Amino acid sequence: MSNIWVKNFAKRTERMQSSAIRELLKISNMPGVISFAGGLPSPDVFPIERFIEASETVLRQHGDQALQYGTTEGYLPLRQFICDYSAKYGIHVQPENVLITNGSQQALDLIGKVFIDLGDPVLVESPTYIGAIQAWKVYGANFVTVETDKDGMIPESLEAQMHHKPKLAYLLPNFQNPMGTTLPLERREQILKICCEHGVPIIEDDPYGKLRYEGKHIPTVTKLDADICNNGPKKYQGNVIYLSTFSKTLVPGLRLAWAIAPEEIIMKLVQAKQGSDLHTSTFNQYLAHEVCKDDFLDRHIPVIREIYKKRRDLMMELIDELFPSDVHYVRPAGGLFLWVTVPESLNTEELLSIAVDHKVAYVPGSPFHTDGRGKNTMRMNFSNASEEGIRLGMQRLSEVLKTALK
Ligand SMILES: Cc1ncc(COP(=O)(O)O)c(C=O)c1O
Repeated sequence: MSNIWVKNFAKRTERMQSSAIRELLKISNMPGVISFAGGLPSPDVFPIERFIEASETVLRQHGDQALQYGTTEGYLPLRQFICDYSAKYGIHVQPENVLITNGSQQALDLIGKVFIDLGDPVLVESPTYIGAIQAWKVYGANFVTVETDKDGMIPESLEAQMHHKPKLAYLLPNFQNPMGTTLPLERREQILKICCEHGVPIIEDDPYGKLRYEGKHIPTVTKLDADICNNGPKKYQGNVIYLSTFSKTLVPGLRLAWAIAPEEIIMKLVQAKQGSDLHTSTFNQYLAHEVCKDDFLDRHIPVIREIYKKRRDLMMELIDELFPSDVHYVRPAGGLFLWVTVPESLNTEELLSIAVDHKVAYVPGSPFHTDGRGKNTMRMNFSNASEEGIRLGMQRLSEVLKTALK
């Protein structure tokens, strides 16, 4: 590239990096490679027929509006759908509290744009979702890490980091990406209390909450907060921004997600979004609304759960059976990932090229850490590969690990 461009890059581009995962997806798309790398849902559960019918209905009945520009906040009936859907899980909000975004990834970016100045401390779990690190680094976030264990974020560690006076606390209570951990109710309450006492808003990112394979649903931090802040089914005015998405329970290709927040925050996010893309695709919003009508998700999600649970169980069984005994994993109660720790003598980033030579891929755990840890960890996705693919891929990976440990 000509130097004329490069020397004119904005200072902030120095903090931009390609996502390790996006780069890995390229490798794992190579012929013959069985990939446990991306967070891809299985195409086996895409309701394609329903999409075909819904597309026709939308175009015939609402074509003139569905193909037109729309409002930045999003298609009102879809926002109302989100309110009704959230109410089933105890979050009572109004459309004014809902913004439709281009994936939760855009919501994370907008949050960065609205809240993070250069050097601002942002509390994150260690490890945390790589996409949030990527989005907020550009705005100059100074990541302050909170320790985790098999139950997710440790409240005492959160409290101990409050002297940094963080701008935000980023929390993934359900089947955390990458660790698969679930925050127990008591910890959710403690974390909410600590953050409220210190005046720190929480970003609750919950793409996987409905994909639970065992145990009972635990109320979201947003619900717990709404119970305290709201008096009846009013507009939400609490201390949490809740993010969720259609990516994992419907399809990721629509790029549709939503943020729930107090109305003033939605208005700020709307201003940030206007400068970015004016609004989320009108057609896709009409389509999602048509597909989801008549409680479709309530029938569809159990189908997804059944398939993913089988794949999770198979992957765990194969680790127990095939992997060296000093390899450990977190048993996830839901979501898409197994978090695996190998002996400290191994570096999973270095091991990846050997694994790819053996036609199997995973994501090394280190990029999920903001403090350089996790060199002997890896995240493995169990939703995307077929059962046969999981068997073959785990066999290959076990050979790679055994050879590396010799
Ligand atoms: C924790 C978390 N947040 C956000 C996202 C982004 O999701 P979306 O497809 O809605 O942009 C993902 C995707 O994997 C995720 O795991």
